Amino acid sequence: AQILVINGPNLNLLGTREPHIYGAETLADIAKHLAQLGADLGVDVVHFQHNCEGDLVTRIQQARGQADFIIINAGAYTHTSVAIRDALAGVAIPFVEVHISNVHAREAFRHHSYLSDKAVGVIVGLGTYGYEAALRFCVRELAKKSI
Ligand code: DQA
Repeated sequence: AQILVINGPNLNLLGTREPHIYGAETLADIAKHLAQLGADLGVDVVHFQHNCEGDLVTRIQQARGQADFIIINAGAYTHTSVAIRDALAGVAIPFVEVHISNVHAREAFRHHSYLSDKAVGVIVGLGTYGYEAALRFCVRELAKKSI
């Protein structure tokens, strides 16, 4: 099985970007950790990061027939992008939405997500552990399906 992890704008700056909010781990650290965990759990973890909305849409489209689950942190596009919402709905691949910070404890404009009502589930505020929690959940769901 393949699990596609997508990170949106500014998440390439993790580790140096507002570390009091987002922590000290870099995106490379996270990707490496998830690849290792995926190998231990018997799934392929593919990672993609882009700062541009259209490239995220294109990557989601390409996941059709490839990925069994998507884990997505769309960054600020979470709060603005109908296009990413439509892409996820269009490919009909189940997905988990992740936010490192607790968006509900922050500015009001971060409280609304264009993705959440389409997501299987949403993880917020668990720091970078949220990606690991999402991956473990996806593997569990896929195991259920294949029984
Ligand atoms: C974020 C929260 C968003 O509001 C913000 O724009 C980000 C990161 C998070 O992981 O906490 O870029 O998605």
